[in-house]
Amino acid sequence: MPLSVPPERVEIQLGERSYPIWIGGDLLGDPSNYLALAAAATALIVTNTTVAPLYAATLRTALSGRFREVHVLELPDGEAHKDWKTLNLIFDALLSHGSDRKTVLFALGGGVVGDMTGFAAASYMRGVPFVQVPTTLLAQVDSSVGGKTAINHPLGKNMIGAFYQPQLVLCDLATLTTLPPRELSAGLAEVIKYGPIYDMQFLAWVEAHIDALVAREPAALAYAVKRSCEIKAAVVGQDERETGLRAILNFGHTFGHAIESGLGYGEWLHGEAVGCGMVMAAHLSERLGGIDAAFVQRLTTLIRRAGLPVVAPAFAAERYLELMRIDKKSEAGEIRFVVLDKPGSAIMRGAPDAMVREVLAQCCAA
Ligand code: NAD
Ligand code: GLY
Repeated sequence: MPLSVPPERVEIQLGERSYPIWIGGDLLGDPSNYLALAAAATALIVTNTTVAPLYAATLRTALSGRFREVHVLELPDGEAHKDWKTLNLIFDALLSHGSDRKTVLFALGGGVVGDMTGFAAASYMRGVPFVQVPTTLLAQVDSSVGGKTAINHPLGKNMIGAFYQPQLVLCDLATLTTLPPRELSAGLAEVIKYGPIYDMQFLAWVEAHIDALVAREPAALAYAVKRSCEIKAAVVGQDERETGLRAILNFGHTFGHAIESGLGYGEWLHGEAVGCGMVMAAHLSERLGGIDAAFVQRLTTLIRRAGLPVVAPAFAAERYLELMRIDKKSEAGEIRFVVLDKPGSAIMRGAPDAMVREVLAQCCAA
C-alpha cells in the first residue's frame, strides 16, 4: 500500500562502522536506496513465511539490477524459532548458493529475522555485509538499529550472539500497514521506553499521540520511528558494546525477559513482556526513591493505553529471581536492574531481594 511520507535520514555515528537509517513510505522497493552498497555478485534475502508473501518479491525486484543473483530464504516464523536450528538454515542457504565474502544479507522482517540474520552475517566467513529492512514497529524503533544480534538458548534469552553493525537500515513505514494490532502494540512498548529513560519531552509527545499511533496515522508513526532512532543512535554512538550507558535501553527488560522465558518463548510477545516489565521496573524505581507513585501511575496508564499488559504472570517470586539471575546484566549472580533515578534518566543497579519480592507481589496476577 503506498504511503506518502517523505524519507528522513538519521545517522548512527560509529567511526568506520557508521551507517544511515532511512525512514519513510515505500522505501524497500526503490532500487536507488541500495546504490551506496559495495558491489557484490550475490544477495540473500532472509525473511520468514509470513513476511515473504507480503514483501520479498518487491525487495527482490529492487535488488535484481544491483546483484547478479538474488536468493530468498524463508525461515519458520516466531520467537520459538530464534535458535541454532533455524540459524543453521541461513548458513545452509549461503553455502549451497556458493556465497562469498562480499555476499550481502538482507534481513526482511521483524526483530527475530533481524537478530538471526545479523548473527549469521557476523559469523559467515567471519563477517559479511548485511542490511536491515525492518517490517515491524519494534524492529524499526529498536532491534534493527545498533548491531545487537543473537539467538535464544532454552535457559536464557538472546544469550548467544555478537555485536555486528549493518551497512544500512531501511524503515519502510508502508510495511506497518499489514502488521497485526497486537504486534503494533508490542512495538509501542519500545517507543514508550525512550521517554522515561532519556527524553521527557518525547514521553509527553507519545502521551499526546498514543491514539494516533494506535490508529497508525502515518505522520505520528514517522515521528515516533524517527525520534526513537535518534535516541537509540545517540546512546549507541556513545557506548556501542554496552560497557555502561547503553544498558539504559534495557529498561523493563530484566523483568520482561523473565516473563518471556518463564512462559516459553512466543507466549507473550517480546514487546508485551517489555511493556509489563517497565511497569515492574517503575515500581522498583519508586521503592528505590528515583520516582514518585504519580509517575509510576503515569507510565502504567500510557502502557495500558498502548494496548499492552500491565499485570505480570503469576510465577512464584523464587522462579522470577532464578530467571532474572540468567540476565546478561547480572554480575557474580547479582541481578542488576535498569531503574529510573529521576523521570527522564535511568541507571543500572542492584536491589535487595526483599524489595524485588515486594514489587513482584504488587505486580503479579493473584
Ligand atoms: P517478530 O520478528 O517475531 O515479528 C512479529 C510478527 O510479525 C511475526 O509473526 C512476523 O512474521 C510478523 N510480521 C513482521 N512484519 C510484518 C508485517 N509488516 N506485516 C505482517 N506481519 C509482520 O517480533 P518483533 O517484535 O519484530 O521482534 C522481537 C525480537 O526482537 C525479539 O526476539 C527480541 O529479542 C528482539 N529484539 C532485539 C533487539 C536488538 O537490539 N537487537 C532489540 C529489541 C528486541
Ligand atoms: N535493545 C537494547 C539495545 O539495543 O541495547
